Amino acid sequence: MKYRQFGKLDWQPSALGFGCMRFPVVGDDNAVINEELAAPMLRRAIEAGVNYIDTAWPYHREQSESFVGKVLSEGYRGKVRLATKMPSWLVNTREDLDRFLDIQLERLQTDYIDFYLLHTLNARSWENYRRLNVFEWAERKMAEGKFHYLGFSFHDTYEVFEDILNGYDNWTFCQIQYNYMDVNYQAGQKGLRAAANKGLAVVVMEPLRGGRLAKNPPPPSVAEVFARSGRDWTPANWALQWVWNQPEVSLLLSGMSTMEQVEQNLVSADQSNPGSLKPEDLAVIEQARQAREALAPIPCTHCEYCLPCPSGVAIPSVFEIYNEAVMYEEPGRGQSAYKYDIQDENKADRCVECGTCESLCPQQIEIISWLKKAHAYLTPSGS
Ligand SMILES: NC(=O)c1ccc[n+]([C@@H]2O[C@H](COP(=O)([O-])OP(=O)(O)OC[C@H]3O[C@@H](n4cnc5c(N)ncnc54)[C@H](OP(=O)(O)O)[C@@H]3O)[C@@H](O)[C@H]2O)c1
Repeated sequence: MKYRQFGKLDWQPSALGFGCMRFPVVGDDNAVINEELAAPMLRRAIEAGVNYIDTAWPYHREQSESFVGKVLSEGYRGKVRLATKMPSWLVNTREDLDRFLDIQLERLQTDYIDFYLLHTLNARSWENYRRLNVFEWAERKMAEGKFHYLGFSFHDTYEVFEDILNGYDNWTFCQIQYNYMDVNYQAGQKGLRAAANKGLAVVVMEPLRGGRLAKNPPPPSVAEVFARSGRDWTPANWALQWVWNQPEVSLLLSGMSTMEQVEQNLVSADQSNPGSLKPEDLAVIEQARQAREALAPIPCTHCEYCLPCPSGVAIPSVFEIYNEAVMYEEPGRGQSAYKYDIQDENKADRCVECGTCESLCPQQIEIISWLKKAHAYLTPSGS
């Protein structure tokens, strides 16, 4: 196992951390972890040197923490540093903070958590935490030894990330979504560097974009790029090595759902080193990124010149969901995102074809006709 630097701490995390959100399950029920398969995976990773375990309140519909606690109680707790997260969306009062933390300590069968995160911070939850003065609470809990270090995981725009980063002086670490397709998404590379410059450890989540970058074989245009590289790497290994290549990354978390993935990612981690990719490797990844982006049918750049739509259609968001669903051949995921993330009054069928947006779009996208196609694709017949 390769070890790296965790921000300002005198501690070296393994390059590979175990993300406990993707364990194998029984049948299709995400709430029933297949313990016979999952426990050996977690043990194997720890025995191979993985020393950072990341779980959270909601994973596997609240079963992940208890399962992790059970496996760690078999003599593994002292071999790893354990991270879990306050479920921000459930927190309304200070009493909630105490209550969730106490339940988590019990579920995890431990007296302390090493790395405690405020889960999935965004503008709204950040505001709520400031209202509750969560820092005073966290410092008290750290003094009591309930957890050792405070951090946050993040899903919002770069501006919000910067605000959070600069809004508290004692963050030890943060966790961001980062992979070769998300260089400029959410915190992105700019956020990675800003956090590292401030001395925070940066934990990367979704290095394979939730598995989409690991599909093997990848789309033909991407497969061609990898084939020309002369390297015999899987699409997953290309994506992981790209993350590890960056010195600002403290470790990456992989959610692994089979023992084979654990074994492969252990080998990948052994090959990793900051700055070890050659310029020709980076060029391959850049070409793979472009090839994937070219699969997006609508050339929308999210500039938002088309907004506000007089009828309220969330044009760039609808296009983003549609593009993603087509690019990664995941109509089901797109349909679900369209159903739950876009309010009915902002859906594409609210378009009255006034054309205001088309006259403003710098890419000259035929927005009206794409909105019709997107709505038809993202709305399963009968719903
Ligand atoms: N704090 C937050 O807001 C937040 C959000 C997301 C994630 N996280 C944490 O970050 C962790 C990492 O994120 P993630 O699970 O989305 O990571 P990821 O590595 O982007 O995706 C995990 C998926 O990649 C696939 N995979 C992994 N290794 C592979 C390999 N060698 N070959 C082929 N496919 C492979 C598996 O997909 P299949 O199962 O389809 O095979 C797996 O479920 C999570 O587990 C969780 O602990 C936190």
